[in-house]
Amino acid sequence: MGERTKFATKLGVIATTVGSAVGLGNIWRFPYEAGMNGGGAFLMIYILCVLILGVPVMCAEFIIGRKSKSDTVDAFKKLIPGSRWYYIGYIGILASILILGYYMVISGWTLEYLFQAACNNLTGKTAAEFKAEQNAFIQNDFRPLLWIYIFLFINYIIISKGVQKGIEKMSNILMPILFIILIVFCIRSLTLPEANEGLKFFLHPDFSKITPQVIVRAMGQAFFSLSLGMGILITYSSYFNNKTHLIKTAGTVAILDTTVAILAGVIIFPAVFSYGVDPVAGPDLVFVTLPNVFNQMPVSALWSALFFLLLTVAALTSTVSLFEVAVAFFINHMHLSRKKATRTMMIIVAILSTICSLSIGSWSHIRIFGKTIFDACDYFSAIILLPIGGLLISIFIGWILKRNISREELTNRNKLHEPLFNAIFFCIKYIAPIIIILIFLSGFGII
Ligand code: PHE
Repeated sequence: MGERTKFATKLGVIATTVGSAVGLGNIWRFPYEAGMNGGGAFLMIYILCVLILGVPVMCAEFIIGRKSKSDTVDAFKKLIPGSRWYYIGYIGILASILILGYYMVISGWTLEYLFQAACNNLTGKTAAEFKAEQNAFIQNDFRPLLWIYIFLFINYIIISKGVQKGIEKMSNILMPILFIILIVFCIRSLTLPEANEGLKFFLHPDFSKITPQVIVRAMGQAFFSLSLGMGILITYSSYFNNKTHLIKTAGTVAILDTTVAILAGVIIFPAVFSYGVDPVAGPDLVFVTLPNVFNQMPVSALWSALFFLLLTVAALTSTVSLFEVAVAFFINHMHLSRKKATRTMMIIVAILSTICSLSIGSWSHIRIFGKTIFDACDYFSAIILLPIGGLLISIFIGWILKRNISREELTNRNKLHEPLFNAIFFCIKYIAPIIIILIFLSGFGII
């Protein structure tokens, strides 16, 4: 095989990695988790998790990816030949397929809402009508599928173009757009009459809501939001060049990802308070509460369209990264061309997301351990597979791979970075495994 493809520029490295991290997890999930679980208190715990868990595990994935320059399965085979650590790669591929199964469904909803906003259909309705229409839409057997397939096709176009011309180029264009829209919304939201009330609700720490379960949710959220534990960052960092400063990159990605999550809260809560709707709507916050809020603003169709465009862009750069894990694997192991590998993944994900979407509607009677297929995919991947992947990755780097390899990768042989390396390595070796085990135990309701 020839020289492995690389991201062409430094901006590309950050844009693609942040593109993977910033997604529905930041804009759809984070605000409602924070809103329901103690506002500023949740935020503090979340930030702590990003620092002591997220950044170290991200560095661990970067070490594996850049040192091996391989897909997530071969990476482990190359680093420790003859061992079975490469099963971690298979866990990652399985997790990415399961996450794509339901992530695609929500991504499809964002396209529907973008379309409805553009057609000016999200105006002049009551809160109850918004809720009823959302229910009717997501339980419909056909319409959500149409949007899923359109979204899949957009993914196909980008991924089949390759790492530089597809993924990197898309991220370089879309990520700045995403940040600009975020800033426009922030200004709009902060100049609303009840902005202060909203910010108080979002940022005021209510420690009475903090239970062990909430801490676990904050940790899980950090994991999911940073795209950790499933080999996405192993795959992406295999496209980094040797000069890329891995610790700096991990820090930048963590800061930008957390900033977007916080900005999403800063946008949503002032708006929710200013228009007197329920701030603790949970998962409905984005698809029911927000359209209702925009509906009451002047030029409401524009605001809704812009918001759902933001959500679509965020979702797209994340789904592309989820696809790339398996596509890179198929290219190497089944000797498929990139186009064929992408098509194979599209078919697998199309089938799974169709099943996930139907499981909200007419297949909702099918239950796996009491959950719909949609919820089971979410639970099994985010609660079980990601923590197992992350745990094994940190054990692999902390206890199995020679410390010198990690040192060389993380410091780029610059002595000045040694103290930082030592701190991060300590987190990878001791702190991260312990915390991840806690997430895991609570996932099973043991603690
Ligand atoms: N990090 C993405 C988000 O916050 C989701 C994601 C999870 C992407 C896991 C890749 C892997 O939406």
